[in-house]
Amino acid sequence: MSTLESNVDLKPDWGLNQFDPWDRRITDDNIWPIYRAMREEGPVLHSEALGGFWCVTRYQEVRAAALDHRTFSSRNALEIGKQNWTDRPKTRLIETDPPEHTRIRKAMQAPILQKRMSEFSDGIRESVSELISLITQKKEFDIVTDLAEPIPQDVLGRILGFDEETRRRNRELVRKFVHADLSASEEAHADFWAFLVETIQKRLRYPGEDFLSQLCVSEVDGQRFSESELVGMLHGFALAGHHTAIDGISSMLKHLAREEMKTLYLGDPAMGSQIVEETLRFDPPIHLEGRTTTVDTVLGGVKIPAGESVALIYASANHDDRQFENPEEFEPRRGTIQHLAFGYGIHMCIGLHLARLEMKTVLEETMRSLPRYRLCGDPVNSGMVFGHHMGWESMPASIT
Ligand code: HEM
Repeated sequence: MSTLESNVDLKPDWGLNQFDPWDRRITDDNIWPIYRAMREEGPVLHSEALGGFWCVTRYQEVRAAALDHRTFSSRNALEIGKQNWTDRPKTRLIETDPPEHTRIRKAMQAPILQKRMSEFSDGIRESVSELISLITQKKEFDIVTDLAEPIPQDVLGRILGFDEETRRRNRELVRKFVHADLSASEEAHADFWAFLVETIQKRLRYPGEDFLSQLCVSEVDGQRFSESELVGMLHGFALAGHHTAIDGISSMLKHLAREEMKTLYLGDPAMGSQIVEETLRFDPPIHLEGRTTTVDTVLGGVKIPAGESVALIYASANHDDRQFENPEEFEPRRGTIQHLAFGYGIHMCIGLHLARLEMKTVLEETMRSLPRYRLCGDPVNSGMVFGHHMGWESMPASIT
């Protein structure tokens, strides 16, 4: 049940046995002490919320569970507890297990492998610099809506061959869906799904030269993909590659707005990549994903029976002081870090190279054309949305 109506704040000990990721009281202001209290209590806790589920809180245990896909199935990756918000077919990559997962992943990741990033870099830079040149004509702008939000759709449009109208509809439907609370999510998801079905059916009937059309007629291991699998694949691109990148870009520009960070970058532009990685560690857009145990197991010394729902709390793992020194400090000089913002194991994000490229390009272009930008109002946090991710609604900034 959503608690949007409630205005009572959450105390850290709420997380010890009541943690509910769909609770709309969760925000960037209160979640970190809650996760800290949960980690201190133990690596694996049981929550009574949503019909009961297990929370994995510490870095080592989250990573171990993410690696063990045989014990921790992804069939219900988007459902925590017994919420069952959708009865759509489970054809999205994120909620498949091998061998289905292996087949779909092979086809989906082909256009966005690391070695293909050079094909996108000029296009991304062009889109970002166009947006920035519009911004330079104003005194003030919104980092989220004027800069971060149009970028992922533009990039996905280039990859998938979406025209202007399709991009606009995708953006609108994703927005409605990810901001719906638990009771409204089924309807919002149905609208989004209908749009994806329509888009795939059009490509099947009138294939073009774009990647999506190629996907529709492609074969992996001698087998074509079913319509429902193709819709699931498009879902992965159109949703997973959209809000996450917006949140990552916005959080990064929030940190970079501080003089200290600008000085750090300008003194050594090679710090750009570390600023991107530290942003992802510190403000991971995806807070958690679900798993279901296939057998009785023991994780972090805690027995979890077969058939139980488990939340891998990547965001909590990224703030674990057993792994990161002073985790509540934003410190790009940590050197190489292995954060879990993109997950780990076979479900590790397929879009990570693209996301990094988008973030790095925005950083470079912003520092080139808007080096004096600063925040000029309070950023508005989204709170936890769709039971698993967090970002920003608005972030007012001025160009000087
Ligand atoms: C900053 C941006 C991004 C973040 C933080 C992010 C985060 C994640 C995480 C945590 C997972 C693991 C899910 C799990 O463990 O169950 C994941 C998987 C996935 N991501 Fe991303 N993602 C980002 C960008 C993208 C982009 C740009 C795309 C597509 C173009 C994308 C597509 C996917 C897909 C399809 C999966 C499922 C992979 C699988 O199950 O094998 N993501 N992402």
